[in-house]
Amino acid sequence: MKRALITGITGQDGSYLADYLLKNDYEVHGVVRRTSSLERSRLAHLFKNPDIYNKRLFLHYADLEDITALRRIFLSVQADELYHLAGQSHVGLSFPMAEMTCDLTAIGTLRLLEIMRDMPGKPRLFHPSSSELFGQPKSSPQNEDTPYLPTSPYGCAKAFATQIVKVYRDCYGLFACNGIMYNHESPRRGENFVSRKICRAAAAIKLGLQAKLVLGNLDAERDWGYAPDYVRGMWLSLQQQKADDYLFATGETHSVRELVELAFKAVDLEWESHVEVDTALFRPSEPLRLVGDASKAKRELGWTPSCSFQELINLITRAEFDELQQLGSEGDNSRRNRT
Ligand code: GDD
Repeated sequence: MKRALITGITGQDGSYLADYLLKNDYEVHGVVRRTSSLERSRLAHLFKNPDIYNKRLFLHYADLEDITALRRIFLSVQADELYHLAGQSHVGLSFPMAEMTCDLTAIGTLRLLEIMRDMPGKPRLFHPSSSELFGQPKSSPQNEDTPYLPTSPYGCAKAFATQIVKVYRDCYGLFACNGIMYNHESPRRGENFVSRKICRAAAAIKLGLQAKLVLGNLDAERDWGYAPDYVRGMWLSLQQQKADDYLFATGETHSVRELVELAFKAVDLEWESHVEVDTALFRPSEPLRLVGDASKAKRELGWTPSCSFQELINLITRAEFDELQQLGSEGDNSRRNRT
């Protein structure tokens, strides 16, 4: 049985990856931070399964800054594969929290590589890089060779982390891969990312639980895909003969406005009378057109996205509607914390 270690296992990608690896007969270990709340609802279905939790799924406590604790976990787990998904992943919040973002995302990745260098049986490493590397790119679509021009502290931190992974691969022979991940969404997405915020609001407004939706830049464009597809790409990256970098994207770009239109249409509402724009939610700088060319991942990994943009937004909005309706029928309209 192969053994995987996931930092950031409680997040959207970490929880889908745990599902995927457990289905593929892995023993899965996750690193979690201590928080005052013990609720980790994205993993709740796994905790409830007596054949899985503490049998094939194990959690270990450590902060990314706590090198001694991390090293101890790495040494005791002796994983075959390490997926480093932890970090501060909100681009907007990286402006007010620039130092923390760079420390966790950039230096946190370097610290992990340093631990790996010293390990006797070195695991294969997957690092999730980001389309934010490209910032305001001079060419579209972007591919693995497009120059990095990040426009946010988060993008700068990811640029450092991506390049240091390549340096350690080349200099020390580590099996370390970057996946340049474009936006990927699902019902497990954090509520302060735009897809989930919009789909949840459309469902809540339809059910009479929310009056309006306040958004930032409706003209921003992204390449949005379905998170479980991207998690499959992570795994495929580590199954190759040679470590390399791959870009994962749908190749289609859509605006936030189109996302709003689709989400409200999914619940039979006209969006114009329910949505307001607040310039306070605009970012100090914005990559306006990110769209990826995933032909290398298709050619070498056989990877393709499974879900269209419309299917994705319908799927998230329907899941929100069902969940809010169920909470309503249980007499509890409070928002559930999924992290
Ligand atoms: N979050 C948010 N909230 N974004 C808004 C809002 C709002 O109210 N209104 C407009 N937007 C716009 C943002 O300005 C951005 O252009 C776009 O919606 C998407 O924002 P997010 O969903 O927050 O995602 P992101 O593109 O900034 O970053 C995500 O994708 C990256 C990969 O491209 C994150 O998952 C990153 O961690 C990831 O690397």
